[in-house]
Amino acid sequence: MKYGLIFLISYLIGSISGSFIIGKLFLGKDVRNAGSGNAGTTNAFRVLGVGGGLGTFFIDFLKGIILVLIIKKFFGQELIFYAVFCGILGHDFPIYMNFKGGKGMAMTLGAFAAISVKLTIIPYLIWLSTVLITKYVSLGSILFFISSVIFYIVFGKFSNLSNIFVILICLMGIFRHKSNIVRLINGNENKIGGKK
Ligand code: G3P
Repeated sequence: MKYGLIFLISYLIGSISGSFIIGKLFLGKDVRNAGSGNAGTTNAFRVLGVGGGLGTFFIDFLKGIILVLIIKKFFGQELIFYAVFCGILGHDFPIYMNFKGGKGMAMTLGAFAAISVKLTIIPYLIWLSTVLITKYVSLGSILFFISSVIFYIVFGKFSNLSNIFVILICLMGIFRHKSNIVRLINGNENKIGGKK
C-alpha cells in the first residue's frame, strides 16, 4: 500500500516534463521530433534555444527537489531513494507522452541535491568539468551517475535498500544514455555549441 502510493505520487511528479511544458505548450514545438529526440534539458537547448533550455532545466531540477521534500514530509527518509527511482521512471517514461521522455539527469541532480548537497557536489563538479572540457553533456551525465553511485554508497550512511535504489537510479541513467554511448564510441556524439 505504502509502496504503491509512493510509486503513484513519485511517478506523477516525475512525469511533469519541463521540455514538454515549455516546448509543446508554450512554443508549439515537440523536442522529441528534433535534435537527439530526447525530452530533456540538453535537447531543449538545441531545439528551443537558451530560454527553453533554462526553463526545462529549472522545471526538471525543481521537481526532483519537490519530490524529495514531499516524500520526506509524508513518508519519512526510509523510502526516499525508492521514491526518486519511481520519479525517474515517470520522467523517462511519462504515460501521457507515450512513454517517450528524458534521461533523468536534471531530475536526479535536483533530487540528489535535496537529499545531500555534500554527497552530490563532487559528482556535479565532475559533470560540469567534463562538459566544459569535452563539450559532451552526455559524457558528463554518464560520469555523474557513475560517481554518484560511488559517493552515495561509500560515503553515505544509507540502508541496504537505499543503496540498491541508488544503484538502480544510476544504472537507469546510464542505460538511458545508450544511444549517446554508441555515438561517443563512433565519434559522432553531439557537442554543445556544435551543429544541431
Ligand atoms: O542528460 C541528457 C544528456 O546527457 C544528453 O542529452 O539530448 O544529447 O541525448 P542528448
